[in-house]
Formats: sequence, structure tokens, C-alpha cells
Amino acid sequence: MADIKKIAVLTSGGDAPGMNPVVRAVVRTALGLGVEVYGVIGGYQGLMYGNLKKMDRHSVSNIISLGGTALKSARSDEFATEAGMQKALKVCRDNGIDGVVVIGGDGSFRGARDFSLLGVNCVGVSGTIDNDIACSDYTTGYDTALNTIVQMSDRIRDTMESHDRCMVIETMGRRAGYLALNGGIAAGAVSILIPEIEFDIDRDVIARIKKAKEGGEGHFIVMVAEGCSPRFGGVDKLAKYIEEQTGIISRSIVYGHIQRGGSPTLMDRVIGTRLGNYAAHLIINGGTNRVVTINKDVISDMDIYEALKMTKTVDKDLYRIAMEVTD
Ligand code: F6P
Repeated sequence: MADIKKIAVLTSGGDAPGMNPVVRAVVRTALGLGVEVYGVIGGYQGLMYGNLKKMDRHSVSNIISLGGTALKSARSDEFATEAGMQKALKVCRDNGIDGVVVIGGDGSFRGARDFSLLGVNCVGVSGTIDNDIACSDYTTGYDTALNTIVQMSDRIRDTMESHDRCMVIETMGRRAGYLALNGGIAAGAVSILIPEIEFDIDRDVIARIKKAKEGGEGHFIVMVAEGCSPRFGGVDKLAKYIEEQTGIISRSIVYGHIQRGGSPTLMDRVIGTRLGNYAAHLIINGGTNRVVTINKDVISDMDIYEALKMTKTVDKDLYRIAMEVTD
């Protein structure tokens, strides 16, 4: 075991259900290995300003079932500056912190990569609903967000069916279409628009709705990833266009931050616990500048530089299946 006596854990960027199970696992694993743990309140921002809380076993009691993050989160521009990093470094040095476990998305991992260059061991664990970390099949929070999308979409389907209407739904995901693609399949969407796949509104939305209507369908869901909406001026405009072109009364809804809340699902609790446990062992054994990954259900780790160079491609075959099944 490397000579790591004290570590910190923080959550950063957009929160995700499942961050709490990761925090809990990091804290309990490290304490069990005789290492002191500080929880950083408010992500990198909290680290720069020394907002630390000494953790014991009970600090993380009853958080496994809670959404959000007990450590709070933030997006910090200041931490990205040299001065910000130096402030955080001083806090680590003053408090004897040898390593930081960073739970977040790729922006948070870039922070961890740069901070580790200053000599503080950093290990990243995914916590983002977008599932857009290229080196890992899965990101903590994704399953809970998807289940929320499915529950809401089932309710929307009820009312769309009663009125023979069309609903255009926007999911989160600025650059990644995983939520919209899988949510769209599960919701039985007639059309799914995601940033990774070229689309044409007349061909991929209007024509599909018309064809389904001719086949006897009366109500429709169109699922759109956030990152596509600027292409047509937002889901409201798309709903109006659908109404003009098809004569079907259409509405729109942006699911927004509802997708980021809620109690983590079984999958996010179990995977979050496994990732957090692995991260604690890794950092206590001297691992630095690493991201914890899960691929084909096997947990491993890789260099953050390499991880951030990778690009995640959406499963094109899954998209094909979605299109064929609703055709
Ligand atoms: O990165 C996660 C995410 O939820 C994205 O899907 C979304 O585009 C973004 O965060 C929203 O961020 P904010 O809460 O800062 O507006």
C-alpha cells in the first residue's frame, strides 16, 4: 500500500442520481482501510476555499437511496485557472490530503487531470446522467434518469392516446443521444433525433408520422436530444411544424432537470458502490491520474489523458432497431 493517509472525495459538474452511493462507498472503503476521509462540500469550488468535512461511517448513513449529492456540486470556472488550482493545492497541502476522488463527468475529469500534475493524486469516477464518458460503457446516474424518462413518457402517452395527439419530448444530452435513444425506444417513439445521427425533419419525423397514421396509429411521441433542438429552434417549433404538416394536434415538453433528480435505481446504487469501492482502493494504493471504468460489467481503470482523448459513438445498430420497430 502506498503511503496515503488522508484522501478527499468531491462531486462536480451536473449532479446525477448515484453520486451518493459512490461517495458512501469511497468513504466506507477508505475508513475500513484505515485512511482518513474528507468530504469536500461544493466540488472544486469547495476544494479551493477549504470547505471540507471530516467523514466518519455515519456521515454517509442513509444516503444510498437519496438523489442529488450529499456533498453538493458546482461547475467552477475559477478552478480551471492556474490561480484556482494553486488555491486548491494549498488547501490539500495544509490539510495533509494526499489524493482526491472526483465524481463527475468529462469536464470534472479534465480538472482532475490538470490537478494531478500539481502532485495531488486524483482518481475520477463517472457521475453523469448523459452516459457520455467514452472509456466506460456506463456512467452512474444514467439508469435512474432513463427510468424517469420512461415513467414520464408513459404518462404522456396516456393523454396523447386519449386525444390522438403528438408530443415532442426533449431529453437532456447536449452532445450525447443515449438518453433520447434508449428513452425513445422504451417509450415507443415514432421518431428519435440525436446529435450523433444526421437527420432530416421531413424524412425522419413528418414522413414517419404520416406513414404510422396511415397504418392506423392515432398518437405519437417524438423523442429529441437537447443537442438537436437548436437545429429547428426548439421542440415547441418542431411541434408546430408537425401540426402544420400532418394536421395532428401537437404539443411539446422539455423534461429538463427532473431527469437529474430522484432516488437512484438498483443499478445506480450497485454500480455506484462498486465504482466507489474500486476508486478508494486505487487511490489508496497510489493510483493517480486514473479514471475508473466499467466495460462489459468488469471494473477497471485507465489513464485520464487517454480516457479524455476517446470519443464515444452511439450504437448505430440500436438506432436501426428503433427505426425498424416503429416503422
Ligand atoms: O452534463 C449533464 C447535464 O445534465 C446535461 O445533460 C445538460 O445539458 C446539462 O447537464 C445541464 O447543465 P446545468 O444544470 O448546469 O444547466
